[in-house]
Order: sequence, then C-alpha cells, then structure tokens
Amino acid sequence: MRKIIIAGNWKMNKGLDETRDFFQEVVSALRGVELGSIVPVVAPAYPFLAEALRESFGSDILVSAQEVSLNSDGAYTGEVSAAMLKSLNLPYCIIGHSERRQYHNESDANVQHKLLKLLAHGITPIVCIGETLAQRDANQTEAVVLAQLKGCLQDVPLKTGTEIIIAYEPVWAIGTGRTATPEQAQEVHALIRSWMMENYSGVVATNLSILYGGSVKPDNLALLLACEDIDGGLIGGASLKAEDFIEMVKIAREADLLIGLCQSGD
Ligand code: 13P
Repeated sequence: MRKIIIAGNWKMNKGLDETRDFFQEVVSALRGVELGSIVPVVAPAYPFLAEALRESFGSDILVSAQEVSLNSDGAYTGEVSAAMLKSLNLPYCIIGHSERRQYHNESDANVQHKLLKLLAHGITPIVCIGETLAQRDANQTEAVVLAQLKGCLQDVPLKTGTEIIIAYEPVWAIGTGRTATPEQAQEVHALIRSWMMENYSGVVATNLSILYGGSVKPDNLALLLACEDIDGGLIGGASLKAEDFIEMVKIAREADLLIGLCQSGD
C-alpha cells in the first residue's frame, strides 16, 4: 500500500520561534491520532532543521530539507551536502523545485546528480517536475513531464519504488491560487505512473508515491486525494498555518479510511 504524504514546503518562510511554535502545535494536535498510512512531513529552512527535529522527536511528523548541494564537501560557500543532512538523520529532501529551476538554473542533470547523492546517503528525494503555463497552452505537458522524468531518473536504479517520491507541480498552479483540477492532475499522475511501469517495473510503479503540488489547501485536498494516482500533496502557502496543516493531515486520514472501506467492499 502506498504512503499518503502530506508535505509542507515552507520555502523561505518562518524563523526560529515560528518554527518551534508550529511544531509544538502540530505535534500536540496529532499526538494519539491514528495516522495509518498518512505521513506528515515539513520542510523548514536550513538553519531551523535541528530545532524542527528536536521538536518533532518521538512524534509522527517527519522533517525534510528543501535542497542539497551537487557537491560532496569542500570549498562551496553557502552549500549544504547530503552527508550533512544525513548527519542530522533527515529522512527526506526536496530537489528540482521549479523555483530552483527558475531562479538558480537547476537542470534535470543537476537534479539527477543530487538524487544519486541523496540515495547514497539513505535520504529519500522528493523530486519535483511540472510544466509552465506556456508549455501547457502549447500542448507540451506530456512531453515536458516525460522529458523531466527521463532526465532526473537517468541511470537511477530503483527496485521497490519507495526509494524516491515524485511531486508533480504545474508551475502555473504554484502560489497562484489556481489549482489544477483533479482531472488535470490525475491525468499527469497516471502518465508518470505508466512511465515508471514501462521503464522500471510494476512493483516500482505501484509503490511510488506521487504528490500533487500547486495551491493545495484544506478546501481542495479531499477531491485531489480521491484520484487514483494522487498520493498526497506538496504544499506551500497552506502549510505555513499549523491549523491548516493539521486539518490537511486529518482530511488525508479520512480520505484514506474511505478508500480502504471501498476497497474492502464494506
Ligand atoms: P503553493 O501551495 O503555495 O502553491 O506552493 C506549492 C509548492 O511550490 C510546494 O512545493
């Protein structure tokens, strides 16, 4: 059974006190709540990862980094390596976010390199892909998404499908309030899963969690999660409010229980 991941990408938001307050509120609200296959993940800024790990220790909330260096160690001012993240015991790291692609010229080859570095350190990469509005309008969505998948996963060995997470984030839906419709998102998620099936195996395709990102909020999460190939969300703005994040984790749990009921035929 695939994990349903509710991941908050805080981007460049929240300082030390806000990070601590958020984690205290979320840890306390979710204490004792049976989460089943739901995994809540939060990605704060680098300086506050250790504080987030301290505050979430012993809870179900996992912490992710937002980026990692291409390089292993040495004279790379401002960079943070996969080994450093591993020394914190971080389980996840986002790579290939469209903001990194746009503002830092991140290429699929860079993402592939980072992905291999993270895997080598036992950190699960959350690999972001997605088309721009111009590409969607030019009917290039499928070609763009498949090219990104191919580039990011070139020579990447996957056996179980749980080694990585893919996040489909259409660039036109990020921070715009304009979410992809569940049908639009499902179509691309199904495309990604069938590509994984063809290029890896049925096992990999079945176990792979594919998250949707782009203006996800408590109001639209349930409909997105009802789609067969949407296994959670990578959430920016709406993950900044503890209250909304808690609500989204609970919505995911309810959606999961409902799907379980339908599948067992009750
Ligand atoms: P928003 O949820 O603010 O649209 O951001 C999505 C995103 O970029 C998550 O990585």
